[in-house]
Amino acid sequence: RSGSHQGQSAWTPLQFYESIRPLLFKLDAERAHKLTLRLLAMAGGLPPLRLLLKRASSAGAQSQPVEVLGLTFANPVGLAAGYDKDGRAMHGLACLGFGHLELGTVTPQPQAGNARPRIFRLPEDEALINRMGFPNRGVAPLVRRLQRRPKDVVIGVNIGKGVTTPLEAAAEDYLLLLRALYPYVDYLAVNVSSPNAPGLRELQGRTQLGNLLQALDAARAELGGRRTPILVKLAPDLSDPQLAEAVQVIGENGMDGIIASNTTTARPALRSPHRDQSGGLSGAPLREPALRAIRTCCELSGGRLPVIATGGILSAADARAALQAGASLVQLYTGLVYRGPGLVREILEALEPREAAITSALQTQ
Ligand code: FNR
Repeated sequence: RSGSHQGQSAWTPLQFYESIRPLLFKLDAERAHKLTLRLLAMAGGLPPLRLLLKRASSAGAQSQPVEVLGLTFANPVGLAAGYDKDGRAMHGLACLGFGHLELGTVTPQPQAGNARPRIFRLPEDEALINRMGFPNRGVAPLVRRLQRRPKDVVIGVNIGKGVTTPLEAAAEDYLLLLRALYPYVDYLAVNVSSPNAPGLRELQGRTQLGNLLQALDAARAELGGRRTPILVKLAPDLSDPQLAEAVQVIGENGMDGIIASNTTTARPALRSPHRDQSGGLSGAPLREPALRAIRTCCELSGGRLPVIATGGILSAADARAALQAGASLVQLYTGLVYRGPGLVREILEALEPREAAITSALQTQ
């Protein structure tokens, strides 16, 4: 019972997580994640537990809706892609107070991902390294689950190409996923930035990205009906000229926003023994590179393309810095591992409703 919550008599989710974290950290990182997800899926299926989770997560947090992408988000804090790839726990996750959930990355067919172990904790650095390689059950079971999706939270799905699909044929995978998911999601995120799918990041280059996004925009127009926003998730490892090129292509091809950023292949000075594992680095060391990407994307698009910030948001101050850099919304992953689900409420309580409102007003101008 320590830290910023000293003196409060009420039990808080942050304190609860502090007490169970050592147990979870005794398990292999992927097993701990699966266990957490299973518990959340279970709780999400039981209305009394749902209510309990909801009460614990949202007590004290003020409502601070954000209007962006033509959608209303109950608040600016979302769940980043990769946490619930198959949408198994969306009801439970929705009770934790998130304004949006990004499911996926999903590929057209089921795939196993890379050999284990493939997630590593770097506690000394408040970081993770993962080389999952998009293990998921494929789009069909996700679509079935989405037919019973929670309605009180914005749901996006992050889409990626299958591991056996050659890069030249990647667009076919993305188009299939767009068509399959379109009726069920509030937004789609095109993943061209995971470092764990061989060659995928080459799709961020001008010609390939342009061809892919043009095809997606045309397919969306053919589908008609309500226009579902499509965002593009970028890598933090792009140079300024590469970012500029990507932002231009994203804007030119009718896309609606940017997610900045995915994990990094860079290895800043790290202290943990696992620092040399291959894969994408997330958490605290990603904070600065992600902020640079957010700032650059906002400047380059002149505020016309909303940016969702992800990378190294482990506290309310981190969330505020990302919003002040121009992001409309933030997403968490590694922060949930180190701080637990109470981080959502901590951020919401600390953010002045005014800050969220200002961000939203700027983005809708
Ligand atoms: C991820 N991330 C991720 N991103 C994505 O677009 N598709 C994915 O499938 C995954 N999978 C995934 C697995 C694991 C174990 C981690 C840690 C991360 C990246 C994630 O969505 C986010 O962009 C980064 O992790 C940066 O945010 P944090 O973790 O620093 O808050």
